[in-house]
Amino acid sequence: MDRIRIVGGAPLSGTLPISGAKNAALPLMIASLLTSETLSLENLPHLADVEQLTRILGNHGVDFSVDGRRPSQNGLYPRTAHFTAARIVDTTAPYELVSKMRASFWVIGPLLARMGEAKVSLPGGCAIGTRPVDLFIDGLRALGAEIDIENGYVLARAPKGLTGGRFEFPKVSVGATHVLMMAATLAKGQTVLANAAREPEIVNLAECLTAMGARIEGAGTSTITIEGVTSLSGARCGVIPDRIETGTYAMAVAMAGGDVLLEGARPDLLQSALDTLAQAGVEVSPTNSGIRIARNGAGIEPVDVTTEPFPGFPTDLQAQFMGLMTRAAGRSRITETIFENRFMHVQELARLGARISLAGQTAIVDGVERLKGAPVMATDLRASVSLVIAGLAAEGETIVNRVYHLDRGFERLEEKLSGCGATIERLSG
Ligand code: EPZ
Repeated sequence: MDRIRIVGGAPLSGTLPISGAKNAALPLMIASLLTSETLSLENLPHLADVEQLTRILGNHGVDFSVDGRRPSQNGLYPRTAHFTAARIVDTTAPYELVSKMRASFWVIGPLLARMGEAKVSLPGGCAIGTRPVDLFIDGLRALGAEIDIENGYVLARAPKGLTGGRFEFPKVSVGATHVLMMAATLAKGQTVLANAAREPEIVNLAECLTAMGARIEGAGTSTITIEGVTSLSGARCGVIPDRIETGTYAMAVAMAGGDVLLEGARPDLLQSALDTLAQAGVEVSPTNSGIRIARNGAGIEPVDVTTEPFPGFPTDLQAQFMGLMTRAAGRSRITETIFENRFMHVQELARLGARISLAGQTAIVDGVERLKGAPVMATDLRASVSLVIAGLAAEGETIVNRVYHLDRGFERLEEKLSGCGATIERLSG
């Protein structure tokens, strides 16, 4: 299994390109199930999760092609890929596939809307918490679906098609908002989604669905209104830049020191994280081509954060920010409110010399003067990259194991960081 080797201590400088967002690309790819015509996605990142979802969609009958180079080749960004679901050949998403990738459960919305039926495995537990699917089920029922759960599968039927309805989410959910928005595009009449997620990825999906002929208003606010149409067409849409990749590298620069332009990054996608970095003493300057992040000489100030749905501080940057705070001049408190079990990085950061204690959903981080390299591993993507960030400032060598987590969501991580002067390499085998 591949590992990443980092020798800490080098400041970062130069330009680091930001890729298309994983969490925008996945729902956009799934939206291709809604039409028999071709959906073309520009700026699709080259990631293990994107490849895995391509295979899953292939099982349902989606043909995939990519412009220019072959999909397996390295260094492909930005690339345009085409997804065509001319005929849906299977409305079942089996356990073997859905359990590997939670977002593949989201096919339930388009399959049900277009085909009147879907049989999708319950995703099961995952490393960051229990992550139930009750909101998807209640929401689809509000659109007239009949839903049963049998043998670990959700059986959803709407033989006469879905009908518009009102659904108020009791809790904000990105995935359930994606799914209900997609399902409602082909329902009869009007659907109103209240307390909907406002994440930029929701707006990206709504814009793409609109380009396909859907009638959607209010995406990006907490009330989304959808007027159903009888069919959707093909379209060409762009994937937004990855705000979590942007925040991660901003924290890497903050941690290692230096001056880097995050090329293609959009400040409006992660304002709360940028404000938090500025409070920590980091220079954050939006430019015409991206965001410049610099820390030259100044220390890292401790800042308390609480994760929240957008536009609050994102849970997907919590681990990375904790990595940064391990070197702050004082105590910070980091509270996780989205997932109940997203502190697996704490023990691993401690292996590098961090001082962190847990009090329920809050981590209390006492900054230390130095971290020391060690072998570490993590059980999810964002936790893994927090160890990379800590490794950039640790003395000596840090080896991050289980690199496949990083490959799920960071395109060419070691190449991008070494291009800015970090000593980081992939060790094969
Ligand atoms: C998306 O997951 C992201 N994944 C996650 O990123 C991200 O952490 C999360 O949103 C929150 O921002 C993708 O976009 C592919 P939720 P999602 O439904 O949609 C609870 C990463 O590292 N809930 O917004 O699955 C749930 O348990 C990943 O890239 C229910 O209770 O998250 C959680 O506590 C990890 N019932 C909260 O809502 C439901 O039916 C928010 O989850 C659905 C969710």
